[in-house]
Amino acid sequence: MNKKERKLLVVDDNIDFVHFIRRALEQENYRISIALDGKTAIEKASTENPELILLDMKLPDISGEEVLERVKEINKGIPVMVITGYGGDQLAIDMMRKGAVDFLTKPLEPRILIKAIKNALAIHDTRQEDKKFNPYPSLEIFFPFLAHEIRNPLHAISGALAIIQKRCNLKDQFLTQSIKIIHEEVQRLNDFVQGCLNFVRPPDFIRFSEVNLREVISVTVSMLAHMFESESNKIEITVKADPDLPKVYVNYEEIKQAFLNIIKNAYEAMPEGGELSIEASETHESPKMIEVVFTDQGVGIKKEAMGSLFSPFYTNKPRGNGLGLALCRRIIVERHQGTIHIESEEKKGTTVKVKLPATRLQENTPGEAS
Ligand SMILES: Nc1ncnc2c1ncn2[C@@H]1O[C@H](COP(=O)(O)OP(=O)(O)OP(=O)(O)O)[C@@H](O)[C@H]1O
Ligand SMILES: [Mg+2]
Repeated sequence: MNKKERKLLVVDDNIDFVHFIRRALEQENYRISIALDGKTAIEKASTENPELILLDMKLPDISGEEVLERVKEINKGIPVMVITGYGGDQLAIDMMRKGAVDFLTKPLEPRILIKAIKNALAIHDTRQEDKKFNPYPSLEIFFPFLAHEIRNPLHAISGALAIIQKRCNLKDQFLTQSIKIIHEEVQRLNDFVQGCLNFVRPPDFIRFSEVNLREVISVTVSMLAHMFESESNKIEITVKADPDLPKVYVNYEEIKQAFLNIIKNAYEAMPEGGELSIEASETHESPKMIEVVFTDQGVGIKKEAMGSLFSPFYTNKPRGNGLGLALCRRIIVERHQGTIHIESEEKKGTTVKVKLPATRLQENTPGEAS
């Protein structure tokens, strides 16, 4: 059976780049339409009904940002992938907030471009299917809207609080205490929303690169030392890693996030202090894996809790969200085909073993957690 031809609209005034896209996609089953300026792009978005738009930010007439907004007014569900020659995290965040499904920077490798397009179309198709069969939106779609609605008032509260702090008599102890409580609770709610957003975000295979896990470990250890400034001198951290540890092909930010959560748990498990050892080495199995073992001397985990550790919202901490390990599992097992295992003995300590494939992975075959 012939695979369905997919309609793409490429919006860019740089002819060389348009040719590059044509060449990169010529073996694939795409029908490509071109718009060299913003006005044509908006017109074509409504008359040609493309399934995906590849949009450059710098256009000769109107800004890419405005095109994105106008296209979304015409058809909210249409996926738009932003491709620009310049960028920065803030621009990427702004564009994603305005509804872009992905953000890529030039120069682009054809392989990455094709992967990004397939990924965007696959997510779009799943959402269409969801709409057909399920009158309720999936969590992945619904939560970002909800998060947006929660975060806006939180920003407003933080702003108002800053003004109160400036204008009030801060010698009043009750007032200072109340401001501190509001501040902490706003921060907590923000962290919770961020945790849920990280959890529901679809996998992002585009941002994979060769990463040295020694580097991830050292970055996370120093980040945590800053976060837990007052506890830091009570906790001794030793890191052992083979100097020629092979690199892994992963999403750096995600693995950093997973390690942060594991080390954060270790800190929280050792309020009186103790040792945390982190060891990274290559295993001798096939395919090759890199194993990172985190061992703390903290409070340990009760036997009956062992089965629930990776469930979202499972926590025994008064102010925990129970999202740290659920997110680790998602990142390591579902998105990187690795494994995560936890062993623990109450009052003795906990060992978390993470394995990640040392070679490039194929998407879609998750690993395991226990
Ligand atoms: N190193 C550890 N030592 C002792 N208990 C742990 C350790 N790591 C995890 N746990 C237990 O597993 C539970 C779930 O951990 P998880 O990181 O998912 O959530 P949390 O730490 O409670 O909250 P969050 O990470 O969202 O702030 C913790 O509440 C704790 O009971
Ligand atoms: Mg945690």
